Amino acid sequence: MLASLAMKAHTVSFDFNNMMESALGRGKGLSLADLQALQMRARAIHARMQEMRRNGTTPFYDIVFSENGLRPILDMAERARERFENLVVLGIGGSALGARALHQALNPGHHNSLPREKRSGTRLFVADNIDPVTFGGLLDQLDLSQTLFNVISRSGETAETLAQFLIVRERLERAVGPRYKEHLLVTTDAERGPLREITRAEGFRSLALPPGIVGRYSVFSAVGLLPAAATGIDVRALLAGAREMAGRCDTADLWKNPAYMNGALHFLAQRKKRKGICVMMPYSDSLAGVAEWFCQLWAESLGKERDIKRKAVVAPQCPVRSLGATDQHSQLQLYMDGPDDKVIDFIRVEKPAHAVEIPRLYADKSDLGYLGGHDLGELLLAEQTATAMALAKKGRMNTTVALDGVTPHIIGQLLFMFQLQAVFAAGLYGVNPFDQPAVEEGKRLAYGMMGRGGFEKERRELKARQGEKNNRFIV
Ligand code: PA5
Repeated sequence: MLASLAMKAHTVSFDFNNMMESALGRGKGLSLADLQALQMRARAIHARMQEMRRNGTTPFYDIVFSENGLRPILDMAERARERFENLVVLGIGGSALGARALHQALNPGHHNSLPREKRSGTRLFVADNIDPVTFGGLLDQLDLSQTLFNVISRSGETAETLAQFLIVRERLERAVGPRYKEHLLVTTDAERGPLREITRAEGFRSLALPPGIVGRYSVFSAVGLLPAAATGIDVRALLAGAREMAGRCDTADLWKNPAYMNGALHFLAQRKKRKGICVMMPYSDSLAGVAEWFCQLWAESLGKERDIKRKAVVAPQCPVRSLGATDQHSQLQLYMDGPDDKVIDFIRVEKPAHAVEIPRLYADKSDLGYLGGHDLGELLLAEQTATAMALAKKGRMNTTVALDGVTPHIIGQLLFMFQLQAVFAAGLYGVNPFDQPAVEEGKRLAYGMMGRGGFEKERRELKARQGEKNNRFIV
């Protein structure tokens, strides 16, 4: 097939027929010439990435090849499994979403409610928000004497995470006295930041993040691996999958590189066909967290006002998450008949871990009798195929990544492919995928509002704006 990059025995394949004019019709889809025109730029970006790898400035890439950091992670995870019932991640954004994506994908949906002997590791709670109702509620229901808190912050100064840490530290001290230190594990920069300083002063156990690993590219570091290993996920297989994908994508040839091809397709869809939105829509509950993780990766890597030469950038696609088949009954009407401004990115699982046969009941009733004897997974896949086809028939762009199953090795491949796709797309837009200036600005204003020293200017600015009474309804 022309527009499909199957990874042979490698269990991940990528089908982009429904992006091309051969499937969608002239003017609707992309042409081969569109892709060929990007090939030169793909070579230049690839050469630059290779050079960066030689210079050691692509830590997100190198980390999956390095065994150095793995031993302490595995040791800490083993201690967590032996000593604790619960692991709570305190972190936000990239410091939380990777752990959640791995947990949802690779542990059973009911992992936390299984008895210890039926679980391969600790229970896991990712407390990424600071809603007092959720966070307070979680702390109230946990047995703190059986709980390890993994405080994760690369910068070590994110207000949400530090506030959670302060609350937890105080509650732990009340619950277990001077042994509170045993219940804290800090993952942060090796040298810098307030969290590192406190960790040193208090003597907390800690894991170090290699320099240059930002949150959304940290899933293969201690940020994602410690919680995964503590719950019993085979992180060696995960890394092996990532390495396999890195090898697969070590070519500038778009036709051999699924990550670059996917990045190129989305770039062209946005630039040439005005598709300003990409919808990540897995047909698997277990991959809902992967969709959430991808949306952050895409949004924070590409959503920049200026390129690396400080020139204004046309905004890249806005990522949206969706879930099949559920959102067929919620969003699909809009995707199909609403504005033609989206690329729908499906993920399907060819062999789900469970088979659930639909019983042959009411065989004489044609409206439901036809379902009997089929498997539920078969119905799910049929719905994905039908939705992709129906969209294509209307000339609407869509891609499909098909996974053989959901295993650590396959998820390692998938996440690494998406990371490379984002970095490559950033190369096409000319933006830096590893910074987040707008997020930092929001953080500074919040510091000012909460009275952090050094942020008085931000506080004054906020007060002045809050003082403006125009354009508000008071009800
Ligand atoms: O991807 C990112 O870099 C961000 O989402 C960060 O992970 C998030 O802002 C939290 O930052 P930190 O890990 O420094 O606490």
